[in-house]
Amino acid sequence: MNLRGGRLQKRMDEEAAKFTSSLEFDHHIFHADIKCNIAHTRMLAQERIISEKTANRIIKVLEELEKEGIEALNLDPSIEDIHMAIEEYVTERVGEEAGFMHTGKSRNDQVATDLRLALKEKIREIQKELLHFMQLLVKMAEDHKETIIVGYTHLQHAQVTTFAHHLLAYAHAFKRDYERLKDTYSRVDVNPLGSAALTTTSFPINRKLTTRLLGFSDYMENSMDAVSSRDFIAETIFDLSMIAANLSRICEEIILWSTYEFNLIELADEFSSTSSIMPQKKNPDVAEIARARTSNIYSNLMGVLGILKGLPYTYNRDLQEVTPHLWDAVETCYDMIHIVRRMLSTVKVDKERGFELAISNFATATDLADAIVKERKIPFRTAHQIVGRLINHLINEGLSLLDVDTILLDKISEEVTGEKLRLDNDIIRRVIDPMENVKARNVPGGPSPRMVEESIKKLKTYIKNE
Ligand code: ARG
Repeated sequence: MNLRGGRLQKRMDEEAAKFTSSLEFDHHIFHADIKCNIAHTRMLAQERIISEKTANRIIKVLEELEKEGIEALNLDPSIEDIHMAIEEYVTERVGEEAGFMHTGKSRNDQVATDLRLALKEKIREIQKELLHFMQLLVKMAEDHKETIIVGYTHLQHAQVTTFAHHLLAYAHAFKRDYERLKDTYSRVDVNPLGSAALTTTSFPINRKLTTRLLGFSDYMENSMDAVSSRDFIAETIFDLSMIAANLSRICEEIILWSTYEFNLIELADEFSSTSSIMPQKKNPDVAEIARARTSNIYSNLMGVLGILKGLPYTYNRDLQEVTPHLWDAVETCYDMIHIVRRMLSTVKVDKERGFELAISNFATATDLADAIVKERKIPFRTAHQIVGRLINHLINEGLSLLDVDTILLDKISEEVTGEKLRLDNDIIRRVIDPMENVKARNVPGGPSPRMVEESIKKLKTYIKNE
């Protein structure tokens, strides 16, 4: 269908047609556009704007096209976009009467409607993937409630925790990502159809009916807003950017933890590659590619925001350039969630190494200071000083926290405060032991196996109810 013969008498320049066509990425809205046309045509007949007979003929052909698939269309760039290609298909089969389909409708409200329809499905798919990911994390956490690892701040050994506690940190980030998408969905789920080019139409169309037929929760209140807004796309890509950022942080840890220096996890061969020259190499390429793809999604977001900022109301063809950013981001993000989940599921944790790291670099020092406060009722700052001095001493002597006893602690304490602490060796042993240490952090949100169990239960219920 060529929009020529109206005001414009000459065919569009071939290069210009190719340059401005959206057909390359319109396949994403093929099904949505058919749905949109069917709903609009039904409504026109119901409101007696066009005859029932014409409507039925148009709808029958649209349904045939749906079955035949996009290949049945003429996708030459001179056709401009999928809306024109579909109209051409219907016109060839129904004849001139097909033109009634476009009564009180513009490609401006049509494309906005199609994008929202198609995106609703994509959001659901990504949400499903997020739930799968959370499920994996919960399952892994169940197996690792007592797997000791060091927790870091500034990438320096900080305190002892468990692998389960760490995995659940990931799970909670994804839970928020999931909820963010849910919230965005509610703003995608509104119907622009009926806005026509920008100011609706004088035909007595029924917007409530098309809204119901298309399964939107409501229609958009203002027709100028409906055809010119793409904030629903920007916010979706932000949500995807955040998911990607969270995935990327996981990837970063997988990369780091599988180094010789950390030596905490091992990836399956299936998710690793080797070097063409160094036969000993086992490289975490999947995690690296995922880490890098994250910024592709950020670029999509920047691209969209850049297009939107200077646009006068209402529709401008610039808006067409927003669309490929959306589908790019959706596809990249979906693929990332999928592959990172599969990769993570193959990770094997070296429990002994986790314990060794937890014991060898003073990660339980906070608890020794806490014990001094609890047993001797002295201010935490003073206890902090005593233990700080003790750590210095241990480092100088090449000792670990396991070498600390009442005598040594008293010697240091006397240097700092002039007084002995007389802390039982039993107490010292207990607070320094990584497992005891973790068990003692029995506060909601903490790493004790009991608290982690609680957290797992809650997450399982959440996942089940979604
Ligand atoms: N292909 C266009 C897009 O994606 C459809 C709307 C075209 N409208 C117009 N007035 N040229 O935005």
